[in-house]
Amino acid sequence: MKRTLGVCYYPEHWSEDMWAEDAARMVETGLTWVRIGEFAWSRLEPVEGDLRFDWLDRAIAVLGEAGLKVILGTPTATPPRWMLDRHPDMLAVGEDGQTRKFGSRRHYCFSHEGYRTECARIVKLLAERYGSNSYVAAWQTDNEYGCHNTTLSYSPAAHIAFQGWLADRYGQIDTLNEAWGNVFWSMEYRTYDQIELPNQTVTEPNPAHVLDFARYSSDAVQSFNRLQTEIIRAYTDAPIMHNFMGRETGFDHFDVSRDLDIAAWDSYPLGFLEDRSDEGDAWKRHFQRQGDPDFQAFHHDLYRACGKGRWWVVEQQPGPVNWAPYNPAPLPGMARLWAWEAFAHGAEAVCYFRWRQAPFAQEQMHSGLLCPDSTPAPALAEAAQVAAEIEDFADVAVAKADVALVFDYQAAWAWAAQPQGRDFDYFRLVFETYRGLRSNGLAVDIIPPDCDDLNGYSMVVAPGTFYWRAAFAAALKQFEGLAVIGPRAGSKTENFSIPQSLPPDLPEAGLKVERVESLRPDSAEPLSEGGHFQIWREHVSGTAEVLECSVDGTPAVLQNGRIRYLAGWPDRAAMKRILRAAAAEAGLQIVDMPRDIRFRDAGVQRFVFNYGMETVDLSSIDGLSASGSIEPADVRFFALDEAP
Ligand code: GAL
Repeated sequence: MKRTLGVCYYPEHWSEDMWAEDAARMVETGLTWVRIGEFAWSRLEPVEGDLRFDWLDRAIAVLGEAGLKVILGTPTATPPRWMLDRHPDMLAVGEDGQTRKFGSRRHYCFSHEGYRTECARIVKLLAERYGSNSYVAAWQTDNEYGCHNTTLSYSPAAHIAFQGWLADRYGQIDTLNEAWGNVFWSMEYRTYDQIELPNQTVTEPNPAHVLDFARYSSDAVQSFNRLQTEIIRAYTDAPIMHNFMGRETGFDHFDVSRDLDIAAWDSYPLGFLEDRSDEGDAWKRHFQRQGDPDFQAFHHDLYRACGKGRWWVVEQQPGPVNWAPYNPAPLPGMARLWAWEAFAHGAEAVCYFRWRQAPFAQEQMHSGLLCPDSTPAPALAEAAQVAAEIEDFADVAVAKADVALVFDYQAAWAWAAQPQGRDFDYFRLVFETYRGLRSNGLAVDIIPPDCDDLNGYSMVVAPGTFYWRAAFAAALKQFEGLAVIGPRAGSKTENFSIPQSLPPDLPEAGLKVERVESLRPDSAEPLSEGGHFQIWREHVSGTAEVLECSVDGTPAVLQNGRIRYLAGWPDRAAMKRILRAAAAEAGLQIVDMPRDIRFRDAGVQRFVFNYGMETVDLSSIDGLSASGSIEPADVRFFALDEAP
C-alpha cells in the first residue's frame, strides 16, 4: 500500500482569502490529507439552532478542488458556550466533587443524556450535508477521548447511569454484594440506588467498586462514540477514525475501536518524553530532541492491534509543543524519522499537527509546518522530503511479528485501584517489557487480553494481566511457543478477588504465588545473573523448575513446560537479559541493539532509525545485516532478500 501524508488545518482560524493559497502549498508539499472541523462548533452553530455551514461548504470545496482529501471531524469535544445554558448540568465533575468549568475544551460528561442528544443532532446535520461530498474522504469522531483526564466524571448523570449499569451486570443486589465482598466493613447494600460513586470516601473505597466504575466509564466512552459512528455510517462509506492519545489507559481502546474503521493516534514524541515518561533525567536529557526510541513504536503497535491493521498517526509533532514541562525543538530530521517509523509499523497515513502556528489563544506557542506569518517552519521541508521519498517506494507492507505482547486496559484500572506500592503502574510494566523485547531486536505485535489465536507466534508475553480471559487461557493451552508471564499476571478474579488457587491462577505454570512485596526505589533486589527486581517481587512455591534466583536465594525466573514465570519486575538490564534468554529458548534470532538504534522490517525493506545524537556504524551491530553508518535522526532503508 502506498502511504500518504497530511496535515491538520483550521480554516476558521484564518481569513477566507488565505485558504486557496494554503491548499495549494499543502499540495505542493506533497500532502494528501487535510483534517478540519473538530473544534468548530461555535462557528457552525453560534446560537442554538442558527446553523452556519456555508463557510465549511466553501472550505471543503477549496481544499478538495486543490486536490486534497478532507478528514472531517465532529465538533463534539468543544460544545459552544450556549450549550451550558441549555444543559447546565452537562459538565463533568472531578474526583474532588468540583464541577469542571467552561473555558478550554472537553467540557462535557460522557453520561449526560441531554448532551448526547445534542451531539447526535450536530453529527447528523454534518453527515447529511457532507456524507456524499466527494471531497470528504474520511471522518473523525470528537477529539482525543480521555484527554485532560476526562473519562471519569463523578456527576449526577454518571451516578444514575452507573447504578443502572450495575443492576444490568449483577441482577440481584446480593450478587453484587458477594462479587465485591461487601461483607467487609459492613458495606452491604440493599438496593442499587444506595450505591454512590467511589470518590470522597473516608479512606480508600472498595477496589471492586472502583474497577466497576472504570468499566462503566469506559463503556460510556464506547457508547458515546458509537452514537456518532452509527449516524455517520448511515450517510457515507468513508472510513471513520478517532484520534487516540499516548499513554492513555482510562478507557478500553480495543472496545472503542470496534466501532471504528481506523484507529488513529496523536504522536508527540518530545512532549511525551518530558510529560509521560518514567525515565530519569539522564535519559530525558539524552533523548530530549528525538523522543524515547520505543515510545512511538509501542503505540504504533498498540493501535495497529486496536484498528485490526488499519491505523494512522493523525497528529504528528512538527516542532516544539506548548504543553510539556520543557518543550525543546526536535533535532533536524526527526519530523521525517517519526513519519517513516510510523509507516514502517504499518501506518496508512501520517498527518502533521498543524499547518500554521496559531498566533492566539492556548496553543500560540505550539509550532506548525508554517510560522504564524506563513513562512516555512523547519518541519515543512522534512514533510516534503518524506512525501518525495514515499513516491520512490513501491510498497511498505506489514509483517506479523514473532512475539505477541498482551495489553489489558482492565489491568491498568485494577492496579491503579490497588497498586500495593506507589510505583506499580501497569502501563510502565508493559512498556518496559516492550522496550526489553525491542532492545533485543525483536518485533512485537500487541494483542488484547481476550485474544483467542496465538498461532504463528513463537513467544507470548503477558506481564501484569489482571485475570485470564477464557479465550486467552484456552489459546495458551494450545500454544506451542514459549509463554512468558508475570509478575502479577492472573493474580485476581474478574471480580477483583484473589483466586482460590492463588496467583497466577494457571495450573500449567506449576507454581503459586504465596506472598508479594513492593520495593522502595532505593531497595531493588539484586538478581544472581545481573540486574535487579525493582518495584515488585513475589515469593512462589511449586514444582516449576527454578532458572534463576535473587542473590538472597529467592526463585526469580521459573519454568514449567512451555510457561516461563517472572516472579518480579526486572529493571532495564535484567529485563533485556531475561527476555533475551526467553527469546533464545523460543528459537528467535536476537540482535543486541545499542541504546539509540532501532529497526523494523516491513515487507521487503528493513528500516533502521537513529534516535541518538551520534553517527553509528551499523556494520558493527551483529545480526542487523546493515552496512555503512547512520547519522543522528536519520532513517536508512535496506532491501531484505525475502519478506519476513
Ligand atoms: C493534541 C490535540 C490537538 C492539540 C495538540 C497539541 O492532544 O488533539 O488538538 O491540542 O494536542 O499538541
